[in-house]
Amino acid sequence: MATSNHPIGVFDSGYGGLTVLKEFINQMPEYDFVYLGDNARTPYGTRSFDVVYEYTLEAVKRLFDEGCHLVILACNTASAKALRSIQQRDLPRIAPHKRVLGVIRPSVEEVAQSTQNGHVGVVATSGTVASDSYPIELEKWSEGRVKQTSQEACPMWVPIVENNVMNTPGADYFIQQNLEALFQKDPLIDSLILGCTHYPLLIESIRKFIPQQGVRVIEQGKIVAQKLQDYLYRHPEIDANCTKTSERKFLTTEEVHFFEARAAQFLGYPIRARKIEL
Ligand code: DGL
Repeated sequence: MATSNHPIGVFDSGYGGLTVLKEFINQMPEYDFVYLGDNARTPYGTRSFDVVYEYTLEAVKRLFDEGCHLVILACNTASAKALRSIQQRDLPRIAPHKRVLGVIRPSVEEVAQSTQNGHVGVVATSGTVASDSYPIELEKWSEGRVKQTSQEACPMWVPIVENNVMNTPGADYFIQQNLEALFQKDPLIDSLILGCTHYPLLIESIRKFIPQQGVRVIEQGKIVAQKLQDYLYRHPEIDANCTKTSERKFLTTEEVHFFEARAAQFLGYPIRARKIEL
């Protein structure tokens, strides 16, 4: 599909990546962005490696067709299960000059700097936890500063957000259970990574149920936006391929009116979306 605009593609299984897009737009308003939410097939967190890889690759190819030279997987599950294969196996073959980046590495770099005692907690989908991406990457990139990483899979949290039942007693029940289980594994945790882009929508309940004081909660949007700007500064050849006319496009695999209504809640302003098939 020929297009004169080259937006930055932002992909998530559903609405969660909008928490990242919102920060991209805040911090980099001049750039063009196209968001793709695979709402019809969400959640990804409980799906196998092969399925997440297959769905994510389809989405990335679709975003390339929209003119993107750079795609951000604003989804931890896709970053954990599909990013490496896409970068190493697919890109050299289908689009050697294009780039696909994820959200795990920026979060890991941030927490490695900020933890005071080296005890890190991660809440994420079952898929991200099972991949062990956070413990592996923290071990690799923290230069010994992170001593212990404890994880808790929270399979109910994405459905709570997708179904818009945050701040209800039912939602709070699951959030409290999962956080208590995590802090029982390691009561010394001083930094908690929200390892799923849906979770910032649950921040009030999360703060309420962290069983101790002084824990730093790491939300990904601001951090990933900052790291993206650093990346574009360090890679002017990629930056030159990102057009800057402040255009925003929204694509969803679900019915448009659902997406438009929820996306407006996430972003704080109305948007128009287009339904696509992958
Ligand atoms: N926002 C995705 C993530 O960051 C959600 C996962 C899902 O679809 O289960 O992991």
